Amino acid sequence: MTPRHFLTLMDLSKDEFKTLIARAIELKSMQHSGVRYEPFKNKVLAMIFEKSSTRTRVSFEAAMVQCGGSAMFLSPRDTQLGRGEPIEDTARVLSSMVDCVIVRTYAHEELERFAKYSKVPVINALTDMYHPCQLLADIQTYIEYRGSIQGKKVAWVGDGNNMCHSYMRAALQFDFELAVASPVGYQPNTDLVNQCRDSINLSTDPIQAVTDADLVSTDVWASMGQEEEHSKRAQIFAPYQVNSRLMSFAKSDALFMHCLPAHRGEEVSAEVIDGPQSVVWAQAENRLHSQKALLEFLLGNEE
Ligand code: CP
Ligand code: NVA
Repeated sequence: MTPRHFLTLMDLSKDEFKTLIARAIELKSMQHSGVRYEPFKNKVLAMIFEKSSTRTRVSFEAAMVQCGGSAMFLSPRDTQLGRGEPIEDTARVLSSMVDCVIVRTYAHEELERFAKYSKVPVINALTDMYHPCQLLADIQTYIEYRGSIQGKKVAWVGDGNNMCHSYMRAALQFDFELAVASPVGYQPNTDLVNQCRDSINLSTDPIQAVTDADLVSTDVWASMGQEEEHSKRAQIFAPYQVNSRLMSFAKSDALFMHCLPAHRGEEVSAEVIDGPQSVVWAQAENRLHSQKALLEFLLGNEE
């Protein structure tokens, strides 16, 4: 049987997402009330990270352990992947030993190749193109604070990067309107823009994007792998900083989100990320709960 994977937000249906987010909220409440829930007993998650991570690594590992299973961290430095063993061979071998694999890598095609040869579910833990797990937490957080996101206006300000691409996919799956403001040359992938035409509005104007928004989200100006472009990007992106002035164009009860890690004074001012509209800490915590719901869904262990 071909396993279900979670490589992009198009891998689940709208109904499946509704159930999954509701389940994430339920699992969070169970954890906060001290309920023991161990559906992943004897299950093993392999975690391949070719880039750094704090939240994704810790939330997946904690999710497995809290639910009775275990997780192993595999860096290319310590595995044969880093010495050139083909992805296909690694996928075949690992998936004969573990129950699920998460992969954080550069090219999205490498993740797809891994998934093609894996006998167990594969989860995208971030590629250069997408970061779908983060969107599960973002949507859960929005719902917890404000209710349904359907029909709301979300503003993405900054780089047309992996997070922006996942927001574009999320606009289709969760039925919200997305306004993207990015500088020329840093706009999201053109093919994806064409696929998402009906739900996104693309401009170079952050004020236009943020005006009347219910949610404002941004991310670093230089993603992992783009470190050497940092100073050039800092100049180009300076007008895209999410600060109090920019937030004043959004609805008065608009939320601010950032997937983290953040650079205060660059893409976001300290007063916004540490201010009353920011929900970044709940958003980060929800990585744990939404990924438990995702693992439960993919491992088919719901009780
Ligand atoms: N937001 C996020 O994915 O953070 P990490 O890079 O720390 O995993
Ligand atoms: N766009 C960022 C997200 C980090 C979670 C990066 O890819 O580095």
